[in-house]
Amino acid sequence: MTDGGSSIPAVRALLRVLAAGRRVAEIGTAFGEGAAAMAETARDVVTVEIDPERVEAARARLAGLANVELLEGDWHELLPPRAPFDLVFADGGLRSPEDYAALLPLVAPGGLIVKDDLTPGRPVEGDPVREALLRRPDLAAVEILTTPGTAAIVATRL
Ligand SMILES: C[S@@+](CC[C@H](N)C(=O)[O-])C[C@H]1O[C@@H](n2cnc3c(N)ncnc32)[C@H](O)[C@@H]1O
Repeated sequence: MTDGGSSIPAVRALLRVLAAGRRVAEIGTAFGEGAAAMAETARDVVTVEIDPERVEAARARLAGLANVELLEGDWHELLPPRAPFDLVFADGGLRSPEDYAALLPLVAPGGLIVKDDLTPGRPVEGDPVREALLRRPDLAAVEILTTPGTAAIVATRL
């Protein structure tokens, strides 16, 4: 179930900008680095991690950040009752088209979705992440380079 490490500095810088003043959710806390970056500017951050060892590490990292709520468990269960959010950083636990369908109702109209960890230059067709975020009529979305070798999608719910 556990996958991926911490977000890279360029993505954390992007998140810090996009989170400003917003009610934020993060899917996949890992060690808390993304949540800590967003907490610098966000109104509040709800972050969910399924791996208990990572939750403990994140709890130490995020201790003292009054606007962060760290939850242990599966985002599918824990985030819908707290929605809608103004920004969702979708950074773990999305594997199927059904997962992306479940992501959309978490986001308020005008709210943002950020998905990183993409390899640039790949076609949309046949890529489930790009198809789910770049081809939906109810999202306006763009793929951007975060470094020369990494990309992210930023989408807004129409
Ligand atoms: C790429 S890491 C997250 C990095 C973190 N967002 C950051 O910015 O540093 C992905 C995390 O998602 C977690 N994860 C996977 N499936 C999940 C689920 N269904 N619910 C919550 N967390 C999940 C994994 O355990 C992993 O720690």
